[in-house]
Amino acid sequence: MTETAKNSEHKPCNLLVTGGAGFIGSNFVHYWLKTWPDTRLIVLDALTYAGNRNNLTEVEDNKSLRFVQGDILDETLVEGLLRDEAIDTIVHFAAESHVDRSIHGPDAFLQTNIIGTHSLLKAAKRVWLDDQIKDNHRFHHVSTDEVYGTLKPNDPAFTETTPYAPNSPYAASKASSDFLVRAYHETYGLNVTTSNCSNNYGSYQFPEKLIPLVIANILDGKPLPIYGDGQQIRDWLYVDDHNRGIDLVIRHGRNNETYNIGGNNEWANIDIVKLICELLDKQFQSASDMAIRFPNAPQVTGKSAKDLITFVKDRAGHDRRYAIDASKITGELGYSPKESFETGIRKTLQWYLENETWWRAIMDGSYQHWLKTNYNK
Ligand code: NAD
Ligand code: DAU
Repeated sequence: MTETAKNSEHKPCNLLVTGGAGFIGSNFVHYWLKTWPDTRLIVLDALTYAGNRNNLTEVEDNKSLRFVQGDILDETLVEGLLRDEAIDTIVHFAAESHVDRSIHGPDAFLQTNIIGTHSLLKAAKRVWLDDQIKDNHRFHHVSTDEVYGTLKPNDPAFTETTPYAPNSPYAASKASSDFLVRAYHETYGLNVTTSNCSNNYGSYQFPEKLIPLVIANILDGKPLPIYGDGQQIRDWLYVDDHNRGIDLVIRHGRNNETYNIGGNNEWANIDIVKLICELLDKQFQSASDMAIRFPNAPQVTGKSAKDLITFVKDRAGHDRRYAIDASKITGELGYSPKESFETGIRKTLQWYLENETWWRAIMDGSYQHWLKTNYNK
């Protein structure tokens, strides 16, 4: 089936996008406003350390967009938005999302990811079901492949029926939220869908995550911390490809179904880091302004970025391998990623080179403070 030829079941008109100022959420807002300009989109975001109003600067004059700073735990606020804006579709990205932070401080993860998701579900139930305001409603929950736990080298990839076996507090909190979403369908009849996606990369990703951290550290001549032996495997997907998958699931996914989204693109961490080193080494050779812009980068003194690679203590409970079997969304909804890793990683590097002010503001601010108080990086 092609992406244009399938049954349409839900027509989103007024969307509430939680976490729309974060990495994937802000890319979703850009994607959605470009793809569906006749719809209205309300972003609800608490602007935690990971949320950034600047992620939405490109679209701030768009008349279809309204930004609301607020917490998903604030049920009165959420209920008011659902009623006042006649919301028919919730796309729920808001979460605490970084595994390392969940190891150092799990409480915030339980609060936002479990209780916060439940607050949203309660508000949606009250407005859409109890008050019968919207027959045609959809709660789409954005989740992760980490709920399935870890794979051995020759295990088949995760399918939607792989048993849940979360290993980090982050993954456990996401698994709990997935179950709550399911329960609100089974018990109350809320229309829900869930997507479980693999590792995303692309623009606006907070530089505590592997790919943007490595780019920023190379440019500043700082060590590239590789946890353990660096042979852990992740299945990388360009962020726009994730958001196109979510779009398909919202409009055409079957009620109460879950869909895995992935890129069929498994890489060991150390190989990704080496690839980024090689690409940036070449960039320094071909663009003369690089040495002036980034005087602390190793390439300026004739070295390679690879010299910065530093093996450090492994992450506690570190999952060895993730891999997504996306055949359900491909077969049912005609999904396939558009970006190859080759093109996606080049676009991403280019974005970080062109948006130095964006990541430097983060690296110089609260993020550095968190690193110093939690561990040396
Ligand atoms: P992120 O950390 O970059 O952004 C999270 C956003 O949620 C931020 O804007 C933050 O301000 C907001 N937020 C946090 N707590 C909130 C609260 N209580 N109320 C309102 N807003 C709040 O995260 P991300 O990487 O963009 O991930 C988005 C979603 O996608 C998450 O649910 C995550 O579990 C899921 N996911 C992420 C990946 C990935 O590779 N990054 C892969 C699969 C699934
Ligand atoms: O799989 C989906 C998940 O991907 C999402 O649910 C999470 O929200 C998202 O953060 C991401 O989780 P990971 O833990 O896989 O991503 P992270 O970028 O933190 O790490 C990727 C891999 O790189 C992981 O095996 C840990 C390793 N790593 C990470 C950092 C930050 C290092 O070796 N060194 C580092 O400094």
